[in-house]
Amino acid sequence: MQVRLSNDAPLDVRAGALVVPFFSGAALEGVAAEVDAALGGVIADAIAAGETRGRLGEHVLSYAKDAPYRRVLAVGLGERASFEPYLLARYAGTAVRYLGRRNVAEIAIALPPPARGTEAICASFVAEGSITGAFDTTLYQEKPERRIATETVSILAAGFREAELACGLARGVILGEAVNFARRLAITPANDMTPTHLAEEATNAAREAGLEVEVLDEARARQEGMGSFLSVAQGSAQPPKFIVLRYNGDPTSKELLALVGKGITFDTGGISIKPAERMEDMKYDMSGGAGVIAALCAIGKLKPKINVVGLVPATENMPGGKATKPGDIVTAMNGKTIEVINTDAEGRLILADALCYANKLGATKIVDAATLTGACVIALGHASSAAITNDDRFVEQFLGAAKPTGERYWQMPYYDDYTTQMKSDIADLKNTGGRPAGTLTAAAFLKEFAGKTPWVHLDIAGTAYLDNESAWQAKGPTGTPVRAFLALAEALTSHDSAQGNGARSTELAVEAT
Ligand code: BES
Ligand code: MN
Ligand code: ZN
Repeated sequence: MQVRLSNDAPLDVRAGALVVPFFSGAALEGVAAEVDAALGGVIADAIAAGETRGRLGEHVLSYAKDAPYRRVLAVGLGERASFEPYLLARYAGTAVRYLGRRNVAEIAIALPPPARGTEAICASFVAEGSITGAFDTTLYQEKPERRIATETVSILAAGFREAELACGLARGVILGEAVNFARRLAITPANDMTPTHLAEEATNAAREAGLEVEVLDEARARQEGMGSFLSVAQGSAQPPKFIVLRYNGDPTSKELLALVGKGITFDTGGISIKPAERMEDMKYDMSGGAGVIAALCAIGKLKPKINVVGLVPATENMPGGKATKPGDIVTAMNGKTIEVINTDAEGRLILADALCYANKLGATKIVDAATLTGACVIALGHASSAAITNDDRFVEQFLGAAKPTGERYWQMPYYDDYTTQMKSDIADLKNTGGRPAGTLTAAAFLKEFAGKTPWVHLDIAGTAYLDNESAWQAKGPTGTPVRAFLALAEALTSHDSAQGNGARSTELAVEAT
């Protein structure tokens, strides 16, 4: 798909459809009002007739046979008072999914009047949402059933600042493609997306994005002392890979942001095997790792002034003849011993060594993302990821950067009670702490390996993939946490000392491209 700007007057634009936004309970404004007047009030009539209330993702199609734009799709943006730029990604995604399935190849898309003044941010969201809306989940169908046929999306620039639109658009394209890349890695089944294949995908994409790549094999991981990571891999016939991606955007700085992602390419549970129901979803257990790889690629292309390293321990969790058994004790890179009570609590075992490795590389800030606990889905459902930290200032920065992206993160507490729950009778730690506060005991376990480095743990078990499609998004992988990772990298750039303002940093970052 191509996303571009158009200088055409809205009523003269040649396209398969003209997409206009409207707010619920408010009079039509901007291009929506113009086109409504030109077509004799068709949109206003549909709203008056109660066909739509203008909620986010609702839409009304009208045909304009003799107009150069041929069709008009009015898409709801919700209440005007609660407008936020990220809603434009959903607005654009809704249009692309609806029209694309109806074989409309060219779409012209209007911005709402409140986009004036924040053109870069708004164009970024429209580009991102257009691209993510077109994501194809039918990768393995000979003749895809519901292909999205949209090839060109033109953002109508008339009345807006064009240079800002162009900057934001370029960023949004890179972000949208990164999100789709993460989704493709995640949706690809585990027989294809082995640790080896994931490392190859990461290597190819990293080269293209100008990143340094290093893939540690089993022998190297052993030399590094990654006994916890390797204990998960030993039940599998597939060799583990520890993927390291580096972006050096600020060579004079000693600051290093480490992004760490869980890369379990399939989680059977190991000897503590999972029930069969929905086990197929465990191909998504590398979503955090996919997010790290894709975010590093976007960062490599957008070139913010910051140093970032991406770490993805990748392995299957299988119950093979050499698999770790409950009760086995393993040693992590920092020397801590872990009694493996439940081999299905494998994510924390691989992340333990990855966090140690981040510290060994000199990370000054660490964020990890992992589909870590079913308990997180019980706590927050699919509405939000959980965020747990050892540093309140850093989590504020993270949350401030992530908020404008539309990805949701809800901070949950760390108390030393949770660490107490993770103490073993025979080793330093055990890998499960019982039913109570499962998300937080997992975080308490990880905290032992983050050390003193400011760190935020993101549990994305409920948000990395969804069972239901929405107007703007196919069901399946969502690309979480790619948007938040990019926003954080931008917010931490050295020319932006003011903390946490994701919106401002977005504008700065796109100006830098
Ligand atoms: N990958 C799972 C967590 C998960 C469950 C993600 C459902 C998405 C949906 C993780 O490795 C796991 O199995 N966690 C266990 C931990 C328990 C044994 C302490 C869990 O949550 O049941
Ligand atoms: Mn598991
Ligand atoms: Zn898992």
